[in-house]
Amino acid sequence: MPQTSDHALSARVALTTGASFWHTQPIAGFAPLMLADGPHGIRAQIASSDHLGIAPSQPATCFPPASGLGQSWDPELAKRVGIALGQEAAFFGVSVLLGPGVNIRRDPRGGRNFEYFSEDPIHGSDLASGWVRGVQSQGVGTSLKHFAANNAETDRMRSDSVIDERALREIYLKSFERVVKGAKPWTVMCSYNKVNGTSASQNPWLLQEILRKDWGFDGAVVSDWGAVYNRVESLRAGLDLEMPSGGDRSVQKVVAALEAGSLDISSLDQAVSNLERLATRVNSKSAEPADFEANHLLAREVAARSIVLLKNQNNVLPLRQDARVAVIGAFATAPRIQGGGSSHVVPTRVDIPLDEIRNRSASGDLVSYSEGFSLAGASDSDALLVEQATKAAAAAEVAVLFLGLSASEESEGFDRTSITLPERQIALLRAVSLVQPNTVVFLSHGGTVLLAEVETLAGAILDGALLGQGGGHAVAAVLFGAVNPSGRLSETVPAKLEDAPSYGNFPGEFSQVLYGESIFVGYRGYDLKDIAVTFPFGFGLSYTQFQYGELGLQKVDSGVRVSIEIRNVGDRAGREVVQFYSGKPDSKVRRAVRELKSFVSVQLEPAESKTIEAVISFEDLKHWDILTSSWVLEGGDWEFYAAASSRDVRSTAQINLPRSGLVPLLTMSSTVFEVLEDPIAGPLLMNLLPKPSSDVDAGEVLGIDLAAIMGSFPISSMVLTQQDHTKEFESLIKAANSARAEIR
Ligand code: GLC
Repeated sequence: MPQTSDHALSARVALTTGASFWHTQPIAGFAPLMLADGPHGIRAQIASSDHLGIAPSQPATCFPPASGLGQSWDPELAKRVGIALGQEAAFFGVSVLLGPGVNIRRDPRGGRNFEYFSEDPIHGSDLASGWVRGVQSQGVGTSLKHFAANNAETDRMRSDSVIDERALREIYLKSFERVVKGAKPWTVMCSYNKVNGTSASQNPWLLQEILRKDWGFDGAVVSDWGAVYNRVESLRAGLDLEMPSGGDRSVQKVVAALEAGSLDISSLDQAVSNLERLATRVNSKSAEPADFEANHLLAREVAARSIVLLKNQNNVLPLRQDARVAVIGAFATAPRIQGGGSSHVVPTRVDIPLDEIRNRSASGDLVSYSEGFSLAGASDSDALLVEQATKAAAAAEVAVLFLGLSASEESEGFDRTSITLPERQIALLRAVSLVQPNTVVFLSHGGTVLLAEVETLAGAILDGALLGQGGGHAVAAVLFGAVNPSGRLSETVPAKLEDAPSYGNFPGEFSQVLYGESIFVGYRGYDLKDIAVTFPFGFGLSYTQFQYGELGLQKVDSGVRVSIEIRNVGDRAGREVVQFYSGKPDSKVRRAVRELKSFVSVQLEPAESKTIEAVISFEDLKHWDILTSSWVLEGGDWEFYAAASSRDVRSTAQINLPRSGLVPLLTMSSTVFEVLEDPIAGPLLMNLLPKPSSDVDAGEVLGIDLAAIMGSFPISSMVLTQQDHTKEFESLIKAANSARAEIR
């Protein structure tokens, strides 16, 4: 029974729920904290408030959303974006910026994939960590979201993500774990959905066991907006701050539970303590002033670094400045710069691709424009638009088609049902490419789109994902070679949707999503079944070429140091993103063919070479061992690959690593094989096994593989002779376990 007065108790409880849509109560003597979206720009709302990006917000720099920034493969660049966002957040009085989103892009149809970095937890968490460090360096908190397993928009408030523990730990939690441990976000935002049957907002296993005990998180846990379904249960589970405000109703329920003794006061004390720590952190550092003009230039730089060159047949690109160029497609004048929903930013300005191309051309007259297709949807004028575009393309030296998905085709709140480009756009490409072999396609999209036909028809393809307000300037810089593209895909482009590992288990049914592909998500799944893809994870070309030396491996205290020399063997400066993957062909556990473990991007002048290196930690090589509920490093021969993409291995090396981690103890349910494998129990059991009575193998007589059948017997059901050997079995197991218990 709490000792404080009712009023004082209510006041303390009130701290753990919002005071309004975006503000907390005053905490620890500080002014109320303001929380605001979002991951690629500040959405500080002026008047009315909503968490869907409907009401207007103040103009702020719109950087590339995560699907764009993720293609830069540069955590340092992400940090620079974070610094700029932190400055603008502080400028608008925002205490906690609600990002980054680190959910895995599990299925290409995911409605919020534009807000997430990757299909891989190492790649995504490294970028997110840079972003968090940047924002928090400005004294503004971040909110790592959406914890956890929010990989579909369909039925997101109720849906239960049903995931086996290896996939949960090694993939879906791993992208959070590495950020929590590496960059220490000041808050984590719980997701709307359930995880294995329990809502994330009231899931003590997630919020206490995993987040705090396993990972050492000392920040505050905030709910997604409206994700608290039972405030008492969520407070008990470790959810510190309910947003938006749950009002008096929420406070009274908690007070009643405390007074009735059904909720321990320690839950309240813990939440208030975490919120006081957050308030202190936010107010302990003043940010640098925000320079919106400089941030726009940064937005342009980041956008250019996020463009992926997917194809460049006969070096169609870069364009000559005196080339006659037919620019085609409505996105060239009305660029798609970001996704829809709570992350939506009102940009301070938007670079228009057509204008930027004309600015870079030797003369604006050299650049024609045709709409090609109407963004408003199919209409009678479609055929005319195609005809006009085709004529313009035929009259030019190069046609640049701006294709992609419009805002209405993908957003927070719903998933896509297909991943094809609109048929009208494909028809336009077919018509233009017929008359113009030098056809360049520039793509704008959040989630992945099928590109098999685009790949056959276009001479060159640039993938911009979503590039923010500086994207128009960036695409012109890349087209004319002022910037040599260095982006790499952060999601596989499948040949067809049905090839996706999650296909058949997305978006789920009856408010349940089965993660049937387990750990084989994204490239891990395509590689497992050796499925051909249009473009693999990590893929991207350059206007120059790079040569890889021999991969060197060295075991160090914390892991394996990888090193390799990279040389620029082309005629222009460029940036290579060297990817390091691990593999273990003889693994005793299910394992992907290759798993990304580290990556390094390096800028090289023509003929320049550099040796780059990284340390892959043993922690990142471990798998989750179900038997011991712990991380285990499998011992034996490992392979490491230096690669230009998940399917372009340039150099391979092997190294033997010692096993580490708990060893499962033997029990009477252990099989004969498991006991025989143990160096102590094995010989003891052999002595107890009956000796063949003759030189005729009993198995041959019985015509069966006796050893295989007996070997899989639990030792408890082994009947060797008339005697009962239970005592001997128990003692040999005890002898084995005393040695096993020593292995850590
Ligand atoms: C939204 C989103 C979350 C956002 C929050 C506040 O529903 O799920 O990402 O930060 O609510 O707008």
